[in-house]
Amino acid sequence: MAKIFSGIKPTGVVTLGNYLGAMKQFVDLQDEHDAFYCVVDLHSITVPLDRLELMDNTRKLAALYLACGLDPEKATIFVQSEVKAHAQLGWMLTCISGMGELGRMTQYKDKSQGGDNVGTGLFIYPTLMAADILLYGTELVPVGDDQKQHVELTRDLAERFNKRYYETFTIPEPLIQKEGARIMSLTNPVKKMSKSDANTKGYISMLDEPNVIRKKIKSAVTDSSGVISFDRENKPGISNLLEIYSLSTNTPLDELVERYKDSNYGTFKQDVAEAVVSLLEPIQARYHELVDSAELDAILDAGREKAEAVANKNLAKIEKAMGLSRKRAKVNK
Ligand code: AQP
Repeated sequence: MAKIFSGIKPTGVVTLGNYLGAMKQFVDLQDEHDAFYCVVDLHSITVPLDRLELMDNTRKLAALYLACGLDPEKATIFVQSEVKAHAQLGWMLTCISGMGELGRMTQYKDKSQGGDNVGTGLFIYPTLMAADILLYGTELVPVGDDQKQHVELTRDLAERFNKRYYETFTIPEPLIQKEGARIMSLTNPVKKMSKSDANTKGYISMLDEPNVIRKKIKSAVTDSSGVISFDRENKPGISNLLEIYSLSTNTPLDELVERYKDSNYGTFKQDVAEAVVSLLEPIQARYHELVDSAELDAILDAGREKAEAVANKNLAKIEKAMGLSRKRAKVNK
């Protein structure tokens, strides 16, 4: 079974973009892989965030992982800051990274917007992400398209480490779906849907009430041509809604285009909204049962123990490979 690692930041309540681009894949992959899925809270503190809100978001995200179908019998589900080896390896990898390569990360450029007062954490975030992945001997990383560059950097760091010190790391591959890899904002369909968007109308939160979902989709930005067809470049709004509809109902895109070719935008948007409401209703019901439950804590405690056992064993080898030891020691394979 190939080893898989992925995570989501609890910077807000996860969006339909996070679900369709990443979480849905997590669920599909758990049967046939040795999967580790993490709530990456250490990544959340790279931007200012209220401490109580972060605590709530961490719990909400873990509950949503389960409500979406992640099964603790199949996958290891845990909170990043509870496994201390992530931060340790993050520092070690930061020390073999270069300012130039980190400065080229597009997510850093977008979030820092060239300002001088940018947090150092935001700058070195990709080395912590590399640590998350490499700590578990990961072979595949299911992510949305926006994270591809970070997985490529992870590969570079792993190869550099292997060359400089000792053949230690498995080189991971990103696993990006063809459809849903980038769900776009509802208010600006050339920008990706993000949970930290200041404009709440731009995203559908996984916990939005049905009527909020209907309103947001009804007011989604489209175009004036009135034609329902899939053309990301010239019709980004309609194409985004088609993609959301297709992934929410597992219906091929061309089937939807054919079905709606003579419809108007109003009818189409109503149907997209109902498809999203039907997708989210059972997830939300299960979420509410889980979020304050002792069951959730028990699952996360067990996940931490399992993750810690693997992470600590691997970290010990990586430390030896780098020379972090009082005694001259061999690296055990
Ligand atoms: N719009 C999206 N479409 C498809 N996939 C997406 N992902 C994020 N947005 C979309 C994927 O979700 C996973 C978790 O992402 P993350 O929370 O760790 O970081 P992110 O990519 O920065 O997500 P957000 O929602 O945009 O968070 P904020 O606003 O805090 O920066 C990743 O696999 C990502 O590709």
